[in-house]
Amino acid sequence: MSLVFACAVSHTPGIRAWPDAPGAKIKNNFYTEFENLYKKMMAAHPEVLVIISSEHFTNFFLDCMPAFTIGMADQYFGPIEQWINVEQGNISGDPNLAKYLLHSSYSAGIELAYAHEMKLDHGIMIPLSFLNPKRKLPIVPLIINAMTYPMPSQKRCYELGGVLSKALEKENKRVAVIAAGGLSHAPGEPTHGIIDEKFDRDFLHQLTTNDSSTFTSYTDQQLETSGLGTHEIRTWVTVAGIAKKLKAKILFYEPISAWATGCGILYYE
Ligand SMILES: [Fe+2]
Repeated sequence: MSLVFACAVSHTPGIRAWPDAPGAKIKNNFYTEFENLYKKMMAAHPEVLVIISSEHFTNFFLDCMPAFTIGMADQYFGPIEQWINVEQGNISGDPNLAKYLLHSSYSAGIELAYAHEMKLDHGIMIPLSFLNPKRKLPIVPLIINAMTYPMPSQKRCYELGGVLSKALEKENKRVAVIAAGGLSHAPGEPTHGIIDEKFDRDFLHQLTTNDSSTFTSYTDQQLETSGLGTHEIRTWVTVAGIAKKLKAKILFYEPISAWATGCGILYYE
């Protein structure tokens, strides 16, 4: 069994770009819990991080939009956005683990797309600025289309998580998995900054009670009533599939209008 840690976190750019906007109390609580998450993860001695984030038209656009893409590169550059206050630079990949997960997924009936070049945006680099601050751990990025129709269903994301979970059971390296995205948000919409706290709390409750039949049943239309960015809960649902035998615990939740997102930090123990 090589899954040594799993967690899910928000990745909104404001976390680093305008950290003080929500006020000192909320910011300090959020940063403290992110640091606690880092300590918990490092206590599990991971050797590599699989980070599951969502597409933001960084690597793929309307001309070619895969549902799921795994990164096979030796090295990645990020973040592409200078303005998010995360230092730009390279980070090592783990092409062997990526290849293993790719082939395992094909064998289990999910044909992931794969990319030998991939850029990293805020969706990956905001979480890694807390969880891999010195960039010592190599990564395997997995990008989900939560951006444009058609998108993989929540059920398919959960199924992918199950497939990855089975593959990781036979992997010797100690792997930590990070979901990055969500929760409810409406970037660029007239409702930008309005957060559906009820949706977020219901969803988090479903994760902590492992109510997979409910959290895999959301339709795209239901999610969009909480903002288009809410599609990104697919990353959380995928990790729920990877960690389905473990119990989810919430470290932090706050609807943070100043960061335009319901911000959550959750881990599995
Ligand atoms: Fe995002």
